[in-house]
Amino acid sequence: MMAKKLKTLYQCSVCGHKTFKWVGKCSQCKEWNTVEQTTVNLNHRNDIDSVANQSAVEPIVELNDVSTERTAYIATGIKEFDRVMGGGFVAGSTTLVAGDPGIGKSTLLLQAVAAIAKTGQKVLYATGEEGLEQIHLRASRLGISGERIFALGTGNVVEIAAHMVQAEPVVVIVDSIQTANHPDLDSSPGTISQIRECTSFLSYHARANHSSLVLSGHVTKDGSIAGPRVLEHQVDAVLQISGDTSGPLRMLQGVKNRYGPTDELGVFEMREEGLYGISDPSQVFMNHRVKEASGSAIAIIVEGTRSLAVEIQALVTTSSLSSPRRVANGVDLSRVHLIVAVLEKHMKLPLTNHDLLINVIGGFEIKEPSADLAIALAIASSMTDRPVISTIAAAGEIGLAGELRSIPGADRRIFEAARLGFENCLIPSAVGDTGSNNTVKVCRPSNVLEAVRFALKASSIGVKPEIKVEIPSG
Ligand SMILES: Nc1ncnc2c1ncn2[C@@H]1O[C@H](COP(=O)(O)OP(=O)(O)OP(=O)(O)O)[C@@H](O)[C@H]1O
Ligand SMILES: [Mg+2]
Repeated sequence: MMAKKLKTLYQCSVCGHKTFKWVGKCSQCKEWNTVEQTTVNLNHRNDIDSVANQSAVEPIVELNDVSTERTAYIATGIKEFDRVMGGGFVAGSTTLVAGDPGIGKSTLLLQAVAAIAKTGQKVLYATGEEGLEQIHLRASRLGISGERIFALGTGNVVEIAAHMVQAEPVVVIVDSIQTANHPDLDSSPGTISQIRECTSFLSYHARANHSSLVLSGHVTKDGSIAGPRVLEHQVDAVLQISGDTSGPLRMLQGVKNRYGPTDELGVFEMREEGLYGISDPSQVFMNHRVKEASGSAIAIIVEGTRSLAVEIQALVTTSSLSSPRRVANGVDLSRVHLIVAVLEKHMKLPLTNHDLLINVIGGFEIKEPSADLAIALAIASSMTDRPVISTIAAAGEIGLAGELRSIPGADRRIFEAARLGFENCLIPSAVGDTGSNNTVKVCRPSNVLEAVRFALKASSIGVKPEIKVEIPSG
């Protein structure tokens, strides 16, 4: 028999990158203190005999013979939640629900499992974070009876798994994965090794037990979920709750989903009696719109099966800094830089010496580039102190040459603009036929300059506009 040839290596516990010597910072994923010592058997990979002689291996099964009876979706009946999940909880799967502290993770999960319990099925809610009294108080505030919801006040994953096997709940909530711990590990809860081990341990038992496992997790400061992206690779689905915690709106979105779409959006309002699903978010996002103010434009965006209108605001002011500030809330800052460069080059807007703040109302995060046109309109409007005509909504991606590029789902956007009572909808001329719509006039500018000329009111509203800017005429 060949002698074992062992070698000591160092491996990053986050990205798996291997090195020959220990380093404090992984050179691949740039995380600190994630490199751990490991041993590899160098002749293992060429040892054909040891593979061929394996007897007790897992049998192979023809795909048609694999039973899917117990992996159906378990719908909660909370429409906004089920749509984002792809139909509901999937038996045997692991889902991570992530969000900032205090955003409403525990509230949402308790409401979701209560809806399942109401249908006569057992659920388990394990918490290492709060006392059982607190969970009971929250349940009472949310009007949840507590029947068939079994609570467990520990983060010990061995105990949680034991109850999972004995009580056979259809859904198991672990709130939160940062407080979960495996007693065999010396490291404290919340460390990368604990998070990894607890997740794989619980996922294994959930799969074996056909229970749907849901973990709640905090988002770290840099936006990565529960330790530097460790969990995202280990779970089947990642849902993110976002929103401005000082306001009532909460958005639920799929970041990853092995059993459903990732582009669906659920919108909720945080009320005293819990999270309340909003079926018409456009109305909420535009509720308090000031129509005759400069620097505000409406974008029609598409999120999964739903199109919605959001207000984008821009504020342009003279800068006293050598490098002016660019702040963007709810849109990608690199897109804002691109739009600013295009407006400077193709519209001669002197933005270089101005601070620029962009904000999407309601704490909404826009991911698609079709909001470019509304961002450009808001910037041009604030810069010239000329309001965007309040009956105009816009959708279009801006290219580097100032051209408006085609966008998907144009007909759905036009329909949404018409439903909300807009008179004009700006759509890039590059978009193909969108059918006819009697209530909204579709305008098709080919570039950003044409769009700005069309959308901005003829005169400025300021008594003394701070900056006098002429928009080049055609
Ligand atoms: N009595 C109440 N009335 C209205 N809203 C409340 C009340 N109590 C709590 N809330 C809302 O619920 C939020 C806390 O929700 P929850 O505990 O579910 O958040 P979480 O994401 O689980 O927080 P953590 O990260 O601390 O576990 C609060 O920020 C607040 O908006
Ligand atoms: Mg919580």
